[in-house]
Amino acid sequence: MSIGYDIHVFVCENERPEDHPRGSCSRRGGRQIRRWFKEAMSHEGLTEKTRVNKSGCLAHCESGPIVVIYPQGVWYRPETQEDVVEIVQSHLLRGRVVEHLLLENKDEETP
Ligand code: FES
Repeated sequence: MSIGYDIHVFVCENERPEDHPRGSCSRRGGRQIRRWFKEAMSHEGLTEKTRVNKSGCLAHCESGPIVVIYPQGVWYRPETQEDVVEIVQSHLLRGRVVEHLLLENKDEETP
């Protein structure tokens, strides 16, 4: 029997002052993103082996809110509840990466 969790979802909730040039995930909705993960994971019965945690800065501040899932090391940038539900249902339940929500793909959309 293993102790601990198989998958960790880290959601950046770092908060900087409102006028900070890099911004911060907390001010871009990081707290709400984590709440949505908790709700969706609970709804899908994923709380036994999968855990969502708030994290400090993950060094992609300008692109936040940032999420990284380990042990796969997959980086996401969800913005809506629908994005979070898609990550939970596809990545966490079925092991399928959600390509259009990956941090590197979302960054390409940013003008
Ligand atoms: S504040 Fe979230 S990645 Fe730096």
